[in-house]
Amino acid sequence: MPQAQKVVHVPLDDCPYDITIATGLLDDAGNALRSVSDARRVGIVTDTTIAPLYLNRLITSVKTAGFDPAVAILPAGEQNKTLPTLLPVYDTFLSAKFERSTPLIALGGGVVGDMTGFVAATLLRGVPFVQIPTTLLAMVDASVGGKTGVDHPAGKNLIGSFHQPAAVLIDPAVLRTLPPRQLHSGLAECIKHEIIRDADGFCALEAHISRALSLDLDYLTDLIAHNVAIKAKVVVADPFEHGERAHLNLGHTFGHAIETVSDYTYTHGESIALGMCCAAYVAVQLQLLSVTDQQRIIRLIRSANLPASGLTLDLDLVLESMFFDKKVQSGRVRIVLPGPLGHAVIRSDIPRDLLRAALASVTASPPHVR
Ligand SMILES: NC(=O)c1ccc[n+]([C@@H]2O[C@H](COP(=O)([O-])OP(=O)(O)OC[C@H]3O[C@@H](n4cnc5c(N)ncnc54)[C@H](O)[C@@H]3O)[C@@H](O)[C@H]2O)c1
Ligand SMILES: [Zn+2]
Repeated sequence: MPQAQKVVHVPLDDCPYDITIATGLLDDAGNALRSVSDARRVGIVTDTTIAPLYLNRLITSVKTAGFDPAVAILPAGEQNKTLPTLLPVYDTFLSAKFERSTPLIALGGGVVGDMTGFVAATLLRGVPFVQIPTTLLAMVDASVGGKTGVDHPAGKNLIGSFHQPAAVLIDPAVLRTLPPRQLHSGLAECIKHEIIRDADGFCALEAHISRALSLDLDYLTDLIAHNVAIKAKVVVADPFEHGERAHLNLGHTFGHAIETVSDYTYTHGESIALGMCCAAYVAVQLQLLSVTDQQRIIRLIRSANLPASGLTLDLDLVLESMFFDKKVQSGRVRIVLPGPLGHAVIRSDIPRDLLRAALASVTASPPHVR
């Protein structure tokens, strides 16, 4: 049985759901799924790295709860987050004669979650979807909010759909096997949430980041619950990103371009860490953010073992890629800027030269934060 659990309710009008966080929850996933589905079958999608670690435990759990599982295993990695990779997944579940009520479980990081969500949104025009995120990034961000999709050579997440999960089940103990670089990557999204919504949370993270880095599961349970609560609140206020949900893209317009041009040698979190530094640079130039708070942001990013400098990519290529982002409107790049801490603003009037200067600011180690 799982230990003490935290539940964050997401009160979306059409499709409310719960996010449950508890150490040991993976072994109780079947029961948790049963409480949202009376289906006979269930589909499980995972990847080649996670399957040997956790798939058998999930299969045992769903079978114990009376489900008959069919499994699809994706090749791990962002480079496989493409439409062609998904075709065999559709084949698996169509030949297993799935029905519209058959739920799909995503067991994995954000890549598995986004891809499974897209299959769930499109298979038979939509089947229920449950997330069991296994990276910190997927726990605090990707598994909440219903954005699903795949990449295209022209850029990240350019093909996709909104499809809300029926439940999100988070077992922080699975983070024990996560490579440290991926743990740090997830902390980038936690830092982002505090910057845009919670100045006190920012201070708390400054004080306790070492507990996250040392995998203190009690602290991580609280940190994950705090972060999903922030994300859920933003998503409920603006489910389809017509307004404030765009604040969650802090660091992402720069970051997605860095991620794409680097050919994914930077992780998502590393890319948006650099992107948040670029956004903070712009915000300081526009006097939206103090230099002191810019330095705190840079310091917190560094203390999470994330990059705040050292970008060696061709800046013109990165800039060009930013204008390919799907959030570009009428040729203008929309940038989320921090400032003051706990708040964010969206601006579409940032001159190209300033965007380039922001990228240049993360190419070398700025002396004032050493
Ligand atoms: N839908 C959204 O709202 C949203 C939000 C943020 C990010 N994303 C997407 O999420 C993706 C990034 O997700 P990610 O950072 O989780 O990457 P990922 O899914 O590629 O996982 C990173 C690596 O860690 C491995 N892994 C996962 N869990 C593990 C565990 N517990 N132990 C050992 N290895 C494990 C995976 O197999 C993979 O190799 C990007 O594609 C991004 O676009 C989506
Ligand atoms: Zn992100």
